[in-house]
Amino acid sequence: MKPEKRANLRLDSKAVYLPPDEASKSISAPIFMSSSFQYDADIYQQVVDGERKSVNIYGRCGNPTEYQFEEQMMMIEGADACLATASGMAAISVSLFGLLKAGDHIVCDWTTYSSTHEMLDHRLTDYNIETTFVDTANADAVRAAIRPNTKVLYFETIANPTMKITAIPPLVEMAHERGIIVICDNTFASPYVMRPLEWGVDLVVESATKFIGGHSDAIGGAICMKSTLLPEDFLEQIRWSTMVKLGSPLSPFNAWLLLRGIQTLGVRLSRQCETAAILARHFEAHDAVSRVWYPGLASHPQHEIATRQMPSYGGMLTFEVEDAAAALQVLNSLELACFAASLGGVRTTTQIPASMAFLDVPEEQRREMNIADGMIRVSTGLEDADDLIADFDMALQST
Ligand SMILES: Cc1ncc(COP(=O)(O)O)c(C=O)c1O
Repeated sequence: MKPEKRANLRLDSKAVYLPPDEASKSISAPIFMSSSFQYDADIYQQVVDGERKSVNIYGRCGNPTEYQFEEQMMMIEGADACLATASGMAAISVSLFGLLKAGDHIVCDWTTYSSTHEMLDHRLTDYNIETTFVDTANADAVRAAIRPNTKVLYFETIANPTMKITAIPPLVEMAHERGIIVICDNTFASPYVMRPLEWGVDLVVESATKFIGGHSDAIGGAICMKSTLLPEDFLEQIRWSTMVKLGSPLSPFNAWLLLRGIQTLGVRLSRQCETAAILARHFEAHDAVSRVWYPGLASHPQHEIATRQMPSYGGMLTFEVEDAAAALQVLNSLELACFAASLGGVRTTTQIPASMAFLDVPEEQRREMNIADGMIRVSTGLEDADDLIADFDMALQST
């Protein structure tokens, strides 16, 4: 199929279609478990002469199975280019280290994945790269935080764990007028729920470990690009300048598992979104639950923005019980849903953000971020919705 035709397919078709492998005609992507590749003298000369950039040399620089994953990620995110990485955090670090230099400034939402927050708040400051944390749902706060040296505006499409939705178009306009690159972490949403590049975002970083892989069996990440500000070969540049130097390539076997996961992204997510909406409505009416955060509920602060911006409301939700002890009691009592880190898999997983991912964030700051001590985060899996409701009701009764 011609690439233009493929790019115009709908998401489900793009996700399953893979051109057959040229050598074997296999319709499933082959796994190339090789750290080294034999040089071809002509190609070698082309590389030496600077006529050719990308070539199989050594596994840390790239691998044919990983290139297949990049191709599929490009398709489903609607990107012009993609760079695969060893993990979601590697995608975030490679894009920031690839873009920024000492003296640069970042404006970032104040609720992001905790390791992202820590990297910006602690590690990057060691390299004289400062970050101002603001509520990106408030465009005036973003405008006020921008400085002449601001290079990046960063937020999550659905923020972890409050499910906050940032309206993208006004921020992209504000950033691009000033030459600022907009980066979104699309992990919580996945390209089924949100495609930020279609809204003018320059780079999407993603933990493929979650909804993309979908089976809690592989760690991986991706940076996808469609940008009017960055050079066309930006990701190829940072493959060599940063990803190869930080030593964070995606392993061929993980690339293969993630490719396998992509094929069922649509069917998994449509079910996960449906079940998340059922659970959100159920919790909203539950006596032991004081608050539910789900973009699909009219009570969600950015429900209207979510409805404009997202084809569906996602498989993640958060609800609040009385306090930290009650939250722990609920999660310990669950039998079908599982008390575990991570998200996006076929099993429903739950965690307590205040005492797990956000433990290092001072209490006062957690309150500002709306992260209550009794908040429970749910990543909806593929279990039957009625069985999940029965499991949560039983656990909530124990409080
Ligand atoms: C929103 C978000 N971004 C990035 C990451 C990091 O992904 P990984 O664990 O694949 O490095 C996570 C992990 O939980 C996450 O929740």
